[in-house]
Amino acid sequence: MSAEEEAALMQAGEVIRTGGLVAFPTETVYGLGGDALNPASSRKIYAAKGRPSDNPLIVHISRFEDITLIAEKITWETKRLADAFWPGPLTMILQKSDQVPYETTGGLDTVAVRMPSDPIARKLIAYGGGYVAAPSANTSGKPSPTMAKYVIEDMMGKIGVIVDGGEGEIGLESTIIDLTVSPPQILRPGYITREMLSEALNERVDTDITILRDDSGQAPKAPGMKYRHYAPKGDLIIVEGKPEQVISYINTHAAQDMTGGEKVGIIGTEEQFAHYHADVVKSVGSRQDEDSIARHLYTVLREFDDEQVTKIYSEGFAAQGFGQAIMNRLLKAAGHKVVRLDENNNKNESKDKEKKVW
Ligand code: TXA
Ligand code: MG
Repeated sequence: MSAEEEAALMQAGEVIRTGGLVAFPTETVYGLGGDALNPASSRKIYAAKGRPSDNPLIVHISRFEDITLIAEKITWETKRLADAFWPGPLTMILQKSDQVPYETTGGLDTVAVRMPSDPIARKLIAYGGGYVAAPSANTSGKPSPTMAKYVIEDMMGKIGVIVDGGEGEIGLESTIIDLTVSPPQILRPGYITREMLSEALNERVDTDITILRDDSGQAPKAPGMKYRHYAPKGDLIIVEGKPEQVISYINTHAAQDMTGGEKVGIIGTEEQFAHYHADVVKSVGSRQDEDSIARHLYTVLREFDDEQVTKIYSEGFAAQGFGQAIMNRLLKAAGHKVVRLDENNNKNESKDKEKKVW
């Protein structure tokens, strides 16, 4: 990092310490940062995002030892997971201390804590006083920004500083694990998978039922997961089945929709996208490389908004490992509209509440 960059981050840190907001890169998505210990800063964050104030913020730290000021009952599990995955894309839910204002935790007695691995993020957090509350830097209801240009689109004129650090490496938000319950429970799937967490802890790790099914009738445990997030402007439908079936179904329906006056977009993979026909066809990445799909998913969704498509078809993805996070975000974007094609090409529309989502 050059001396100029270091000085710029120092200045941006000063903005945070004096109650202002700074958007900054992390290894997952861009964050919109303010002083987590200052209630006025948290109120500003909610206002800039247009976000409901019952949706708590993640507190970002730059050194493990800083956790003791904001969280109580730090157990061996917290230490073990920090050893294994911090700095990195993992957020832990812990009992909050009195130092954390309820404005930051959306009224909850727990606090979400994460130590990002991005060096720019960590420097900024340190210069910003050590405790930076940061939701994703998008307007509420839009896909999280993976590039500074999307932060500019959403936040220009609303915040003091935007730090450009290039494209996020991971592209989807951090995994959230609740350590206030036993066994620990995943509230949001991400790059750090249940298998990885369970192996590090050498114990069972559960997943919030609402991530696995859309028919549980329960509210998600992470308040933010209950909102219709990541929603593109166009109506999105996920189509699952054998590649040939999916291609034929999507092409047939896209042609019908276009005749009916819709502007149609298709989200395909490297392996299949040359076979599709619609107004806009985009590849989100290769099926051989899940990381590439995660990295590009939000960008593709935003590009479809820019192209003003009114209808979008997407291929589905295997909901295992990191793929679970990809499908979780895609299903939310689609409002859980999925078409499953069976062997005989019969379609099986989900949204009917009886069906398991995966
Ligand atoms: O990767 C990330 O985590 C990014 C970057 C910027 O670090 N941040 C992010 O923040 O995704 P946000 O605010 O967009 O999502 C935070 C999620 C929300 O769903 C929120 O409800 C949940 O974390 N959350 C925060 N505090 C919580 C708590 N105490 N209990 C349960 N869920 C909590
Ligand atoms: Mg968000």
